[in-house]
Amino acid sequence: MSDVVLDALTEADAERCAELEAILFPGDDPWSARAFRDELRAGHRYLAARDDGRLIGYGGVALLPGRLGQQAEAEIHTIGVDPAHQGRGVGRALLDGLLAAADEIGATTYLEVRVDNAPALGLYRAAGFAVLGTRRRYYSSGADAHTMRRPPGGVTVGGTPADAPR
Ligand SMILES: CC(C)(COP(=O)(O)OP(=O)(O)OC[C@H]1O[C@@H](n2cnc3c(N)ncnc32)[C@H](O)[C@@H]1OP(=O)(O)O)[C@@H](O)C(=O)NCCC(=O)NCCS
Repeated sequence: MSDVVLDALTEADAERCAELEAILFPGDDPWSARAFRDELRAGHRYLAARDDGRLIGYGGVALLPGRLGQQAEAEIHTIGVDPAHQGRGVGRALLDGLLAAADEIGATTYLEVRVDNAPALGLYRAAGFAVLGTRRRYYSSGADAHTMRRPPGGVTVGGTPADAPR
């Protein structure tokens, strides 16, 4: 991770993101370059990880500030790391950056993840997420997804998230 730099993802990165998506999410509706441009134009917060200037990872979060007493919410939309660079802490650094933005507005953060995606489940659990429920056939491949939730700040009480369902 030492030579890897995190900065803002831009529309100029969209084609490379789509290239990585096709490798990382085959059969699960990988996003197109246009989908990434739409995400950026919608104002969602996206980070890029670059190694020697080359994009090797990306991640994005939608932020919904709380209004009129409502709890602020955030949703991790996607995160991916070039297979050649996985296992070096890049995914964790990207997720930490996205969660820092969620924590700035005191948001509860949600995401969906394939139930059989062990690396991602490990990453999310370590960041304070817990499984909230399961969505059957959530992906176009027919795979199920867990919905996961992380309380604001990832704060836990007695080893479980403070707002974990009973
Ligand atoms: C999930 C993903 C982003 C992790 O990125 P990464 O850079 O390899 O992860 P890191 O090196 O930062 O590892 C962070 C933590 O993730 C977990 N993790 C990473 N790889 C793992 C593996 N192969 N098995 C189990 N846990 C793993 C561990 O908890 C790890 O912490 P540790 O190193 O202290 O054990 C990456 O595997 C990826 O791009 N996968 C394909 C796309 C994807 O599934 N995205 C998530 C969609 S919901």
